[in-house]
Amino acid sequence: MKRRRLLLLAGLGGITFAGIVFSFNIRKLRFFRKQLGELKEFLFHKKELNNLLSTQTVKSDISYPKTAPIFRFVSVADTGTGKMPQYSVARAMKHYHSKFPFGFVVLAGDNIYPNGEIEKINDVFEKPYEYLLENKVKFYACLGNHDVRTDNGEPQVKYPNFNMAGRYYTFEYQPIQFFALDTNAKKEDWEVQLNWLEKELSNSKAPWKIVFAHHPIYSSGKYGSSQKLISTLTPLFKKHKVQLYINGHEHNYERTRPINGTTYLISGAGAKQRPVGRSEWTEYSTENFSFAAFDVYEDRLIVRGINIWNRVFDAGVIQI
Ligand SMILES: [Fe+2]
Repeated sequence: MKRRRLLLLAGLGGITFAGIVFSFNIRKLRFFRKQLGELKEFLFHKKELNNLLSTQTVKSDISYPKTAPIFRFVSVADTGTGKMPQYSVARAMKHYHSKFPFGFVVLAGDNIYPNGEIEKINDVFEKPYEYLLENKVKFYACLGNHDVRTDNGEPQVKYPNFNMAGRYYTFEYQPIQFFALDTNAKKEDWEVQLNWLEKELSNSKAPWKIVFAHHPIYSSGKYGSSQKLISTLTPLFKKHKVQLYINGHEHNYERTRPINGTTYLISGAGAKQRPVGRSEWTEYSTENFSFAAFDVYEDRLIVRGINIWNRVFDAGVIQI
């Protein structure tokens, strides 16, 4: 009897000891996982800082006009990873918004990697931009090549927070009319879309016209300039005085000087990055994670490139 009790006590003691060891190991495991996460974040930011210091001369900010802008907006693209760099850019957007409130974001495609799966919307959009959404900042999206891999992007067209009135659509914030395009469209659909754009541009009374889409027209990045888009879109831009084209697809920032009256701005380093070169029309290019911010005046648009260190690394003026 005594022996059995002894064995029972020893057994219970053994189980308790194993439990303590087990919970200690779990705690240790959680601790190391946290440490690893912080180390990864540190190395990521260190690499970013080194990139910035070694490859770029940070320009000083240009001076503000005396009056406040009519409104501000920002643009970002190629965002839909849900990973750390997206959060870093989102944090910089939040910081900028707290200093210089803006009303909306032009979201230039590849909103959900890798296949436009709408069920990931919380992880790749609602959580990273939670602060902006809570502060009533609107997003106007267009479709990227990754977005159309699921049901041709239709779930995103219907998603309310993307404010898409169709695959291609237009909206106004006086004095600007925006035109969102679907540059994934093939042949007949592209022709129909071009006709729609031509009609909308010629009917527009807005002094400022901005077109945005996912694919680049002029680019010094991986994909380079698109002869198809140069031949189909730029004659319309010239004829109807489109001052700015915004896009992504290239995972970098690049601002051109005006080409036949249109400035081309790539703001595709919203979550991924890739080296970028320069062309004779390049005003500024960098692979560093960033978004673009715009101050709208009657006679000019001030554009700024802002990195995850909240620094303005590029600033330029677009005249009407
Ligand atoms: Fe893309």
